[in-house]
Formats: sequence, C-alpha cells, structure tokens
Amino acid sequence: MNARHSSRRDFLAACAAAAVAGAAVPFARAGAPSSKRIPLAVEEQALQRIDLIQAPTQVQVRAGLKTNVWRYVGAVRAGSVGLQTVPGSYLGPTIRARQGDLMRIRLYNQIGEESITHWHGLDVPADMDGHPEHVVAHNQTYDYEFPILNRAGTYWYHPHPDMRTGQQVLNGLAGFFIVHDDEEDQLPLPRGPQDVPLCIQDRSFDAANQFTYAFNMMAGFLGTTLLVNGRPDYVLSVATRAYRLRLLNGSNSRIYKLAFNDGTPLVVIGTDGGLIDAPREYPYVILSPGERVDLWADFRGRPVGHQATLQSLAFSGAGGAQGGLLNVMRVSVDRAEAETLALPQTLTPVRRYRLQDAVNAANPKTYPINFQMGSGFTLNGAPFNMTVVAVNERATCGTLELIQITNTTGMQVVAHPVHFHGRQFQILDRAVTAGGLANWETVRQGYVDVGWKDTFLMMPGETVRLLVRHSAYAGKFLYHCHNLVHEDMGMMRNFQLLA
Ligand code: C2O
Ligand code: CU
Ligand code: CU
Repeated sequence: MNARHSSRRDFLAACAAAAVAGAAVPFARAGAPSSKRIPLAVEEQALQRIDLIQAPTQVQVRAGLKTNVWRYVGAVRAGSVGLQTVPGSYLGPTIRARQGDLMRIRLYNQIGEESITHWHGLDVPADMDGHPEHVVAHNQTYDYEFPILNRAGTYWYHPHPDMRTGQQVLNGLAGFFIVHDDEEDQLPLPRGPQDVPLCIQDRSFDAANQFTYAFNMMAGFLGTTLLVNGRPDYVLSVATRAYRLRLLNGSNSRIYKLAFNDGTPLVVIGTDGGLIDAPREYPYVILSPGERVDLWADFRGRPVGHQATLQSLAFSGAGGAQGGLLNVMRVSVDRAEAETLALPQTLTPVRRYRLQDAVNAANPKTYPINFQMGSGFTLNGAPFNMTVVAVNERATCGTLELIQITNTTGMQVVAHPVHFHGRQFQILDRAVTAGGLANWETVRQGYVDVGWKDTFLMMPGETVRLLVRHSAYAGKFLYHCHNLVHEDMGMMRNFQLLA
C-alpha cells in the first residue's frame, strides 16, 4: 500500500462525509513548483503569447449578494490571438486561435491551492497537457508551449489537479478555446456576432448567494440552478438570421438532452473535434459533461418577438436525480435583419477509420468503468494512481487502435461520460444489454457519434467501441470519467504512448 492509495482512501472517506454533511470537501496538500519550456522554431506571425491568471474575484450571478468565484483572466502579450471576455461572467476568456499557431501561455496560479490547466480536446505534448503531476503551488507559474495541430473546432480549458478538479471547476475555472482553420474559413458559416459559444452549467447557492458543492456519489453534483455563460435565466437575443451555436456542457456531472420547445430542429454541424461531413438533424442532442456540439440555428422564418426555450428533456436510468425536464435558456428573436447565408449541403469530409486497419482489430483494449465495493470508482479495474500505467494502457505513437469501454459491471451501474486526452477519435459502435435497453431508448437518438469525438456518454449496460489514431507525442496522458465527482474519486487512469 503506497502513499497514493491511502491518500485516495482518505479522500473517498472525506467525500462521503462531505456529501452527507452537505459541506465542501476539505483539502490541503503541499507541492513542488514546476515550470517548463520547450523551444520551438516558429514563424513570428504565428507566435501567440498569452498570460492567463487564475484568481479569486466576485461576480454578480444572482440578485443581491455577489458570489465568490475563481476566474481565469487573460492578456495577449504577442500575436493575433483573440481573447474575448464573457461579459458579467466567471467564465474565462474565449481564446480564438488558428491551426498552426504556436501558443505560449503562462499560467499564473493565484487561487491559494495547487492547480494546473488542461486544454480539453487539443493534441499537445504530455507535459503541456495539464497532467495532475504538473500542478503548481499558489503564486507559481507554469509555462505552456504547443503548436495547434487540431482542426477548427470548439475546444475548452479547465483545471486538472488530482482530486480537486471538481471544486476548482465549480468555483468558476473554465473557458472556451476555439480553433479556426483555412478549411473551415472556406465555408459560408455564421461568423462574428452570429458565432456564439454557450457554456451550460449548473450550480447551487446558499442563502448568501455562494456556490455550494454537495453531491451524491453516484449521480455526482446536480445543481439547482442552470447557468449559461455563467448567468441564470439566460436569454440569447437574436436577429432573424442563421447562428452557429457552440454548446459546451461545462457542468461537473449533469447530463443534458437538448431540444427547442417550439419545434426548431437541432441541426448539428460539429462535434468535439470540429465540423462533421454534412449538417444532420436530430430530434434532440445528448450533451454529457465535457462534450460539445455545434448547431446551425436559423431564426429567419421567425417573427420578431418569437421566443423559443432550449430545454433538457426527461430521460431515465442515468443515476440519481439525472434526467428531469429543465429549461436551459431562452432565445428571443428581437430584430429583423437580412440573411444571405444558406445551410451548406456538405461541410468537411470525415474519413471513417476502418476496423480492419486497427493494429489490434481482433484484440480490443477493454476497460470496464464501474463502481466497486472497496476500491470505489475504477477504470480498467483500478482507481487513479499518479504514476501507475497498466500493461494494457500502453500503445505506440501514431498507431490506430480499437478500444472498448464497458459499463456493464459493478455494484451500482450509472451513466459515465468517458474522455480521452489528446486525440479526437471515432465511435465505431455501441451495444447495450437487455436490462439497459429501456433507459437507453430515452437517449440513444441524441448521440452524435458521426464526427470526431473526445468525450462520449455511456449509459448503464452500454459497451462502446472506438477507433483512435494515437498522438505522435510520446508520454503519459489521461483518460477518465468526466463526471468530475467520479474523476476526483479516482475514475481516471494513465495512458502511456511510446515513441
Ligand atoms: Cu476536460 Cu481530463 O478533461
Ligand atoms: Cu481533456
Ligand atoms: Cu463516472
């Protein structure tokens, strides 16, 4: 039994006690500061230098007392990178960069405890990825340097310290990281004010308007108030035009089944890893924590004054109180404006991987995700350990592999949003047990499995097979449940890529 194991067990006990008491989980740990820089040759115009400070502040979230939050604040030091502040929000600035840019980001940690930031969905070197072993103490900095290899898409950033990710994200630390590229620029898509990032989260408040983090271990944290871009009762004021809505589920645990209440169809144009092959209509879209979906929302046919509510529809079996009907935000058509854009018939080709091309097509890497008596939340049979990598958690850089996750075993089977760092992959197929079928039917039409993914929901009884072409970067990466309560309790593992 090493130190990591006993620390994990103490943490589980503390979490269980806190969940019962409804209090925040106490935590303190000293750490070694670290700072890294990899020199890279780059053309001057592609060099983007940003300072990103995470620090406490107060924002007006609800009427009355202000809420204490932690927020990323950014400043551009060099380059053409965009940093858009989200007005009146605890969300960090929306970073807008281009494929091929070289990002140099200096993170200043001012939150009074260890932290490190992760670039969710981006393919970056292992020591730039925000692995918890790279945490820096209060008043320390971490220097990131990585080229943007990803295609255009809606990515995001948030802290990733071991056992404190949930609390730090809950306190407000998160932001969009939007990548643009030449391929996407060719397409007639909504831009500028018609390109709207929307982060959906839930929070609970005490009588003094402060965030509370009382959770149920199985369902996780389910807040009583839905926020969009950090605001309750969010209203998106639109003109009679076409919009690109970039939806991010930045919630710690809550799963959404999104649909408009006025019958406006959900026209999906993008997933976690950017545009899909062609616009596709969905009756509703499932968005679990960490996932993104880009919609083409056309309000051209609507009269000025029209109101539509984006709702989360009821579904069942995901665990605890997940799945109730909720209003997420309102869209208000406020202005008549001319629109010339037409929905493109095709977007960008997504070349599907073929199973027979996987190096282990006949022998998938299989990782059960479950909750077990004694060991608690596990992935691949064990809870997170900072340094341990199992034999079946190693792969060679650049190879195409078949990975299979099963959510079919354990004491109590609930839904889990599964996330792999570093690479966009493709969902090959899904299967469900007979016992899981009825609940699965309440969500399955909303799985957007057609595009590039880095996070996907697994309902109880599901087995998902995915094909991933591993990164060219060697080193230790993470895969985990993006229900941050589960992640912090150990439902996370290392994955080692070998050159
Ligand atoms: Cu958005 Cu490892 O996470
Ligand atoms: Cu990630
Ligand atoms: Cu989970």
